[in-house]
Amino acid sequence: MSYKVLITPSHHEFDVENNETLLDAGLRQGYMIPYGCRSGKCGMCKGKLVAGSTRYEKVPTIGLNKIDSDQGEILLCQAYAESNLTLTVREIERKEEVEVKKTPCRIAKMQRLSHDVMEIFLKLPDNERLQFKAGQYIDFILPDGRRRSFSLANAPTHDELLELHVRKVEGGFFTTTVFETMHEKDILRIEGPFGQFYLRQETQLPIIFVAGGTGFAPVKGIIEQAITEKMQRPIHLYWGVRAKRDLYMHDLAQQWADQHPQIHYIPVLSAPLPEDNWQGKTGFVHEVVLQDIPDFTHYEVYACGPPVMITATQNSFMGKGLDKDRFFYDSFEFATAQH
Ligand code: FES
Repeated sequence: MSYKVLITPSHHEFDVENNETLLDAGLRQGYMIPYGCRSGKCGMCKGKLVAGSTRYEKVPTIGLNKIDSDQGEILLCQAYAESNLTLTVREIERKEEVEVKKTPCRIAKMQRLSHDVMEIFLKLPDNERLQFKAGQYIDFILPDGRRRSFSLANAPTHDELLELHVRKVEGGFFTTTVFETMHEKDILRIEGPFGQFYLRQETQLPIIFVAGGTGFAPVKGIIEQAITEKMQRPIHLYWGVRAKRDLYMHDLAQQWADQHPQIHYIPVLSAPLPEDNWQGKTGFVHEVVLQDIPDFTHYEVYACGPPVMITATQNSFMGKGLDKDRFFYDSFEFATAQH
């Protein structure tokens, strides 16, 4: 059973199932509703019930002290619909309105994804969540004040843990720490979210993602969010790495393509190993895109990877009709920072 929720003053409308909260439903369908803890304590997700009825499964006593229930205010992260609803909610319109937080976090889980990529899951303190747009990044703040940046690889609808893909950089202080001495339950400090690498929704143009190495991470977050929102824009994902072992989430990308006809996945190896028996595309990833797509006039392009890949992609695609305002990128330098 589902109900309709109308938001004022934006006139946005979304569906809510009877087993999901109003906040979960709104985020799942791509609406930027402000929130903090997602557990009924901070009051940041408040909205005003204008018409219809809602219920709490567990009465969020602490959060209710922070809102004015007598005036019809409710906590969207705890409220379920019992009818069609009209709510007044202040939606976030600009990325700058998303709160940048400095917070401690704990390593909840670590696992190797390949010979040189580690997946790390971070857990914020109880009653805290980080609101972000898929594709943005966070900084680790090291004890001496230095920072290391990493893209968020999960979609914001699933923000119980923050997911990062960390590639080991030879001689890199922080990434060596990750591979050699960091453990689950370690406490770190982060700040975020930051960055302009998120999906623009103003057009319906097909999207080309050009990912180099762990530049796959933010692309993963964006594609997972697009799938959650049931976005139908065609997506062409080109993922360039050296050898097959570097396609550390190949099965996942292939699964997206198998399950969603609008998603196309093209892995590209620049230096396949003999044992790879590789029959797929080879070479530099941007050159493979150029072979497949002769004219970029009607595309939006998102590139994430090392600076040399970004520059080559930008220059060559703009020479083939790509509008510079439709090129978005996140460039990382392994030696100093990685995001
Ligand atoms: S997000 Fe904190 S009370 Fe709802």
